[in-house]
Amino acid sequence: MNDIRNIAFIGAGNMTQSIVGGMCKSGYPAEKVWISNPSTGKLDKMKSELGVNTSQDNLEVVNAADAIVLAVKPQLMAEVCDHLKQHIDNLADKLIITIAAGIRIPKYRQYLGDDIKIIRVMPNTPSLVGQGMSGLVADDSVNDADKSYVTEAFNGVGETLWVSDEDQLDILGAVAGSGPAYFFEFMDSLAKGAVELGFDPEKARAMVQQTCLGAAQMAKESDLSLEDLRKQVTSKGGSTAKGVETYQQRELHNISADAVKAAVNRNQEMAKLF
Ligand SMILES: NC(=O)c1ccc[n+]([C@@H]2O[C@H](COP(=O)([O-])OP(=O)(O)OC[C@H]3O[C@@H](n4cnc5c(N)ncnc54)[C@H](OP(=O)(O)O)[C@@H]3O)[C@@H](O)[C@H]2O)c1
Repeated sequence: MNDIRNIAFIGAGNMTQSIVGGMCKSGYPAEKVWISNPSTGKLDKMKSELGVNTSQDNLEVVNAADAIVLAVKPQLMAEVCDHLKQHIDNLADKLIITIAAGIRIPKYRQYLGDDIKIIRVMPNTPSLVGQGMSGLVADDSVNDADKSYVTEAFNGVGETLWVSDEDQLDILGAVAGSGPAYFFEFMDSLAKGAVELGFDPEKARAMVQQTCLGAAQMAKESDLSLEDLRKQVTSKGGSTAKGVETYQQRELHNISADAVKAAVNRNQEMAKLF
């Protein structure tokens, strides 16, 4: 990592813990990381495990940093931003990064000022195990150096994908953000299918999770389309063909398309709440 800045995280929840853990693991110096949180338990843990700087005072960490990650729940964002706006004079000189779901960039301009530089990031929970898929979006307020800084930081917990606007980020959120839940639902249903036929539940889980991981790894390493990969493991007249036919008859692709649309709609409804 070439660009090392003082970076402050407001809120020491699950996402902050995974992002900071990943950044430190990939070589980001802990003494450049500042974290604030109202209660001390998570702060103490991160300080002792990683050696980062901690405080119960948001203003202290913001004053110490050039890049600020807003990582509180969306319903607390207005209050947290208002406090910063009241007490920090040079917010426009700092790079603001927000990971909150549902709050759009124009709203942050209302909260923090028209002149802020801001990047929205939508991480997902596999970031906790270093296999995240983070979506990023920014407007013209940020330059390429700011973009690569944030890209590198989030590459510490998985992969990053820049999208062109916030509508695209809603779609990314509905697929990558919510996706782990869809895959867990699908994995659970496959395991239950095996158990219903008399298979041991623990073995069913082991077999499903490894199959899912293996399929994802094959998809990542192959140049073939997902459809061609599926065809490759589906011999005509074989047992896989029968299984796939069952999914196709029940129109799995329509179910997935509806699920994504429903999650996008919900993202857009939530955006109106803030
Ligand atoms: N989890 C996900 O999959 C996911 C995915 C994408 C985006 N996000 C976004 O990431 C953000 C954080 O999510 P999370 O799952 O990490 O939530 P979380 O575990 O609940 O963490 C939020 C943290 O904020 C702290 N906090 C509360 N009030 C604060 C204040 N005034 N100043 C500073 N910190 C304060 C809380 O401290 P206490 O516990 O002491 O109250 C808590 O540690 C949310 O906006 C969410 O939308 C999450």
